Amino acid sequence: MSQKKYALVTGGSRGIGRAICVKMAELGYNVIINYKGNKDAALETARLVQEKGVEAEIMGFDIANRTEVKQILGSWVETYKDVVIEVLVNNAGIRQDVLLPMMSDEQWDSVIDTSLQGMYNVTKQVLTPMVMNRFGRIINIVSLSGIKGMPGQVNYSAAKAGMIGATKAMAQEIARRNITVNAIAPGFIKTDMTEELNEKELANMIPMKRFGTAEEVAELVGFLASKQSSYITGQVISINGGLYT
Ligand code: NAI
Repeated sequence: MSQKKYALVTGGSRGIGRAICVKMAELGYNVIINYKGNKDAALETARLVQEKGVEAEIMGFDIANRTEVKQILGSWVETYKDVVIEVLVNNAGIRQDVLLPMMSDEQWDSVIDTSLQGMYNVTKQVLTPMVMNRFGRIINIVSLSGIKGMPGQVNYSAAKAGMIGATKAMAQEIARRNITVNAIAPGFIKTDMTEELNEKELANMIPMKRFGTAEEVAELVGFLASKQSSYITGQVISINGGLYT
């Protein structure tokens, strides 16, 4: 029996995650669209995925909640033995920007718990079947902040830098299983996350003089998810309109 192939995208209900879901569908993958609260937005992503002629499944869980991830994603993986999640995109993330002296414990914890712990929680559930499958792609969405550090984002920079370290280590652990693990570091991308930023002013710092789009990031994810990227692993690839530091 041929196995059904899925891509799982965390935070797939909007923004970069939604564009990635659509890209995965274009690659021919059925897509599991994880969302935290906005079911309607997840259903809209599912509609866009189905338009590409593949199956879409929306799966609500908070990636920061280990118990919930185990219960919902873990039991799905247990139940559907004929299914293999070949591509995992750890995309979900949040920002809670404030200078460190003013940062609350909650602001520190929630950002680390979502990006870094969330990546661990979700990856743990899909890794063993992926290893048994002897083919897989893990793509972690990090940030320029995780490479250079950004004032006002000590929590976010730490979370994303942690993901970069994990990406590099994981890549070496499972390279011989034909599984690549890479990180993508966007600069400024036009989504809800950057909505309240002064785009005009910030765009001036970017050599391309504009924010990127979610679709541009999704194209890169698509390449790293494809068979064509087979010899690229443990890398952090920037997508930022030339915004080097
Ligand atoms: P967004 O705020 O539009 O989307 C984030 C998604 O993650 C939302 O669907 C949200 O519901 C989901 N999410 C948040 N916490 C979650 C949780 N605990 N469990 C499950 N889902 C959760 O933001 P955007 O811009 O699409 O961001 C996607 C990723 O790209 C994030 O990891 C972000 O840090 C990263 N990024 C974004 C940049 C930008 O300029 N927009 C720049 C660099 C990185």
